[in-house]
Amino acid sequence: MKQSLRNKINDAEGYLAVTPEYNRGLSGAMKNTLDYFLEEYYFKPSAIVSYSPGMFGGVNAAQQLRLVFAELGAPSISSSFPIPRLHEVISEDGTLIDEAYNKRVSKFLAEFEWYIEAFKNQRANGTPY
Ligand SMILES: Cc1cc2nc3c(=O)[nH]c(=O)nc-3n(C[C@H](O)[C@H](O)[C@H](O)COP(=O)(O)O)c2cc1C
Repeated sequence: MKQSLRNKINDAEGYLAVTPEYNRGLSGAMKNTLDYFLEEYYFKPSAIVSYSPGMFGGVNAAQQLRLVFAELGAPSISSSFPIPRLHEVISEDGTLIDEAYNKRVSKFLAEFEWYIEAFKNQRANGTPY
């Protein structure tokens, strides 16, 4: 299990994290999983989606996760994607309720793709370590 996750992290060209917020912080399960690896993340970008039932969309968790990704060598893109009042946006069965999110997420994903391409092109020239 750990080896297959390692391979996935190693082979990925970027990391899109989706985190809830617990007691103003990121999920312990997310942190624990991220902490298992290190070199696998190097010189690849990350992007952060956070959610909560409240009105702030898990922004505290997102800010903490930004620090963690910076330490792991996978810096986060400028934009993040908080989803407040999650129950009004996505239904229990995963159906999108709020169609406005389609447009919002397209812009966010386009920015992430730009960084993925930029990092990939630069990695092709080698990395400092
Ligand atoms: C112990 C606990 C602490 C929580 N703390 C926060 C919080 O600080 N901020 C927030 O917006 N929501 C908080 N919530 C609400 C969670 O974000 C909400 O339950 C969310 O659905 C959890 O996501 P999950 O079900 O995918 O794990 C908390 C929930 C629990 C159970």
